[in-house]
Amino acid sequence: MFEMKKIQAGGKAEFYADLLSQTRGLLHDEHDLTANAANFSALLYHSLADVNWVGFYFLRDGELLVGPFQGKPACVHIALGKGVCGTAAQSRATQLVPDVNAFPGHIFCDGDSRSEIVVPLVKGGELLGVLDIDSPELARFDQDDQAGLEALAKAFLDSLP
Ligand code: SME
Repeated sequence: MFEMKKIQAGGKAEFYADLLSQTRGLLHDEHDLTANAANFSALLYHSLADVNWVGFYFLRDGELLVGPFQGKPACVHIALGKGVCGTAAQSRATQLVPDVNAFPGHIFCDGDSRSEIVVPLVKGGELLGVLDIDSPELARFDQDDQAGLEALAKAFLDSLP
């Protein structure tokens, strides 16, 4: 079905363009939030190098609730404004965290995580939740990853009704 391969840093623009086309292919026939979040998190987990957690937190009853993910069991509830996820959700701005230990209020779910990126998911002006990706490497994510992952998150949002 989909060829999933890990790549090393370098050639990121091409890598993310290819992953974007795989994502559109994977999601284009389905519009269910849970189904697409599950498949999208699996695609990212098996395509990105050096990641230990990839998944979703969705806004439910005024807080973030864990959704489909790949990785170790995670924190279930995160308040808006708390941790990297709650900060991304409240500010609606991507949080690029090169060293989680230097982020005030970072919430540890997996002790292996050293860096993290969280992309807010906003559709039609409404906050749906966040896409959270953790790495065991320091400074795993840079501006190119941010641009690539924001484009992928948009493709996910575009697949929803
Ligand atoms: N580190 C996140 C919590 C979620 S886990 O990384 C899966 C945070 O600070 O919000």
